[in-house]
Amino acid sequence: MTGRLRRPASWTLRAKLVASVLLLFLAVTILTGTLTSISSRQYLTQQVDDDLLSASQRFIGTLDDTPDHGRVRGGPPAGSGNGVLHLVLRDGTVAVDDHGQEINYAVNVRGQNDRLDSDEITEINTAGLGRAPSTVDLGEDIGSYRLVSARTADGLTAVTGVPIDPIDSTVRAIAVIVAGSSAIGLAGVWLGSTYLVRRSLQPLDRVAGTARRVSQLDLDSGDVPLAERVPDVDPRTEVGQVGLALNGLLDNVDGALRARHESETRVRRFVADASHELRTPLASIRGYAELSKREPEPIPDSVTHALARVESESLRMQTLVEDLLLLARLDTGRPLERVRVDLTLLTMDVTSDARAASPDHRWELDLPPEPVDITGDHDRLHQVVANLLANARTHTPPGTRVRASLRHEGDLVQLRVTDNGPGIPEALRPDVFERFTRGDDSRQRASGSTGLGLSIVAAVTRAHGGRVDVSSRPGQTTFTVTLPTS
Ligand SMILES: Nc1ncnc2c1ncn2[C@@H]1O[C@H](COP(=O)(O)OP(=O)(O)OP(=O)(O)O)[C@@H](O)[C@H]1O
Ligand SMILES: [Mg+2]
Repeated sequence: MTGRLRRPASWTLRAKLVASVLLLFLAVTILTGTLTSISSRQYLTQQVDDDLLSASQRFIGTLDDTPDHGRVRGGPPAGSGNGVLHLVLRDGTVAVDDHGQEINYAVNVRGQNDRLDSDEITEINTAGLGRAPSTVDLGEDIGSYRLVSARTADGLTAVTGVPIDPIDSTVRAIAVIVAGSSAIGLAGVWLGSTYLVRRSLQPLDRVAGTARRVSQLDLDSGDVPLAERVPDVDPRTEVGQVGLALNGLLDNVDGALRARHESETRVRRFVADASHELRTPLASIRGYAELSKREPEPIPDSVTHALARVESESLRMQTLVEDLLLLARLDTGRPLERVRVDLTLLTMDVTSDARAASPDHRWELDLPPEPVDITGDHDRLHQVVANLLANARTHTPPGTRVRASLRHEGDLVQLRVTDNGPGIPEALRPDVFERFTRGDDSRQRASGSTGLGLSIVAAVTRAHGGRVDVSSRPGQTTFTVTLPTS
C-alpha cells in the first residue's frame, strides 16, 4: 500500500464528524442486533419448551393407557410433529411396544425418520434429564434437542425432545437480516451525514474564504479599502458567531486603516506645505547673501567667509527642501508629466555632467545604437540617472570605473549603473531605498549627503510604473532601474 492512513488527530472536522456518526450508528446497530438475537432465541426457546412439555404430557398419557404393564403401546403419538424425539427406557435400555417395536423415534438433520443409536442413547442416559427442558447435543446425525424426561407409573423413563435446529436457523436468519439492513443503513448514514455535515459547515468555508482573501490584501500602506466581510452570518449558530466576530474584527481593522491613512495624508500634506513654504525664505536668504557680496564697501574677511557659508548652506537646504517636496508630491500621487523622453540622450548628458564633476573616475557608456524612447517625466528621469551617477561618484574613491548602460527588453527598458567601488555597507543594504538612510563615514558627511537620493530614485521609478533593484558587494555595485516604455 502506498498511501498511509492519516492519524485521526489530523483529520478534517468534516471527516471527524462523519466518522463519529458512523461509529455511533455502528455501536447502536451492534447492540440492537445482539439484543434482538438474544431475545429472539429466548422467545423461540420458550415456545419450543411449551410445545415440548405438552408433547411430553401427551406421550406419557399414551404410555399410561397401556393395559400391559410389561409392554408399551408404541409409535409416535399422533400430532407429535415432525422432528419430535420419543424414547422410552426401561432400566437404561430401550423399551418395546406391544408390537415388539422399540420406542425410539427421532428425525435426523436431513429430515428423515431415524432411530437413536447406542451412543446417542448413552448421551441421553448420562445427560441427567428431568422435568425441566435442557439442551443436549446428540451429534451430527440428529443435532441438538431440548429434552425432558418423565417417569411413568410403570417405572418407564419417557424422554421427549424437540430439535433446536429451527431455532438456530431462525436466529441466524434474523442476524443476517439485521446485518444486511445495518450495512445498507450504514451506507445511507454515511451519505446522509456527509451531505449534512458538508452543508452545516459551509458557512465555515465562507468565514475561511473571507479570512484568506483579507490575508492576501496588501495592508501595509496607502488607502486600503477593506470591504471584505463574511456574508449571510446567522448569529444564532456557532459558525455565525465566528463570522460575526470576524466581521467585527474587520470593522475595527478597517477603522484603524482609515485612521492611519488620514494621518499619513495629513503628515504628507504638512511636509509638502512646509517644504513649499520654506522655498521663498530660502531664496531670499540666498539672494541677500549674494547681494551682500556685491557690496562696494570693503567687507572684513570673516564676514565674506560667513556670507559664503550662508550661501552654500542655504543652497544645500534648498536642495533638501526640493527633494522633500518632490517626495511629498509623489507620495500624494500627484501625476507626473508624460512626454517622450530619449533615455539614450539623457544618459549621455548626465554621464558627461558626472565626468565634468569628477574627471578622476573612469566613466563608461554602453548604449544601444538606436534611441531608447520612453513616456515619462523628463526632469524626474534626469534626476534618477543623476542620483545614481552621483552616488557612484561620491561614494567611491577616485579611479573607480563607473558604467551606465541601457537595454531594451520588449516593453521594458533597463537602465544599469555599475561601479567597481567598495560597495554599499552591509548594514545599509536592506534599507538603502528608505528615506534618510546613508553611510556614516566622514567623507559622506563632508559631501553633504542627506540620504534622500535613492528614495527619490525608488519613488520616481514607482510613479512611472517601474522598479529599482540593487546588488552590491565589495568591488561591484549595480543599480538596475526597469521602466515600461509607455
Ligand atoms: N554606488 C554606491 N557605492 C557605495 N555606497 C553607495 C552607493 N550608492 C549608495 N550608497 C550608499 O547608500 C547610501 C544612501 O544613498 P542615497 O543616495 O540615498 O543617499 P546619499 O547619497 O547619502 O545622500 P543624497 O543622495 O541624498 O545626497 C549612501 O549614503 C551610501 O552609503
Ligand atoms: Mg546619493
